[in-house]
Amino acid sequence: MRTPLVAGNWKMHKTAEEARLLVADMLGGLQAVSGVEKVLCPPFTALLPVAAMLAGTDIGLGAQNMHWEAQGAFTGEISPAMVAEFARYVILGHSERRAYFGETDEIVNRKVHAALQHNLTPIVCVGETLEEREADLTAKVIRRQVSGALEGFTAEQVSGMVLAYEPIWAIGTGKAATAEEANRVVAEVIRGTLTERFGEAAAQAVRVLYGGSVKPHNAAEFFAQPDIDGALVGGASLKADAFVAIAAAAKQA
Ligand code: 13P
Repeated sequence: MRTPLVAGNWKMHKTAEEARLLVADMLGGLQAVSGVEKVLCPPFTALLPVAAMLAGTDIGLGAQNMHWEAQGAFTGEISPAMVAEFARYVILGHSERRAYFGETDEIVNRKVHAALQHNLTPIVCVGETLEEREADLTAKVIRRQVSGALEGFTAEQVSGMVLAYEPIWAIGTGKAATAEEANRVVAEVIRGTLTERFGEAAAQAVRVLYGGSVKPHNAAEFFAQPDIDGALVGGASLKADAFVAIAAAAKQA
């Protein structure tokens, strides 16, 4: 049995002060949801204050990105060790990183290796664009992204990772994939690729989240799918009630 995981990707929202207010609003509600792993991924500048608020709770903390080198002359970057000081998770290869900051599969792969070296659980994002989907390239693109990100790992290492299927056309658009459609990509393409490369046991152990316009009204449909183990939530994670409701839906599923 895979424990459901609901993670909030705050993206570039919330100052440290705003982050404190948001966490204060959702803390009680989230703690009341048992049996679901809950993770908040605020911007770097809010990691420290949010970590302080989450200390002693069952809510995890994650970063949204990091560099792959342990340290060095990389002005403006944040190292895995810096993230690991506060957080246990890190989102890697988000489509916004790939599209706006030139992250390739090779870069994502280096970051995933760095995450494991620093005892961080990576949440590795994959997903196709609308053009790729319309050209029937979804499976090909996702296979390439999954294989690329996980190059050089053992089955045991892969088993502990979290993947997120985020069709790019569904992110921030209010147009979620249908739950059946998302489940088919996760089962056939993502777990299929994992089975080919790492074996059935690893493919079944990995938790795969769905992301892209997950809201309180549609979350349960995704969580009811056999191969979807939770959600990576963007916009709705910035509203305390909505994020708590999504976590609660994961518990019921
Ligand atoms: P939205 O939930 O705002 O569509 O964002 C999804 C996402 O990109 C999470 O990483």
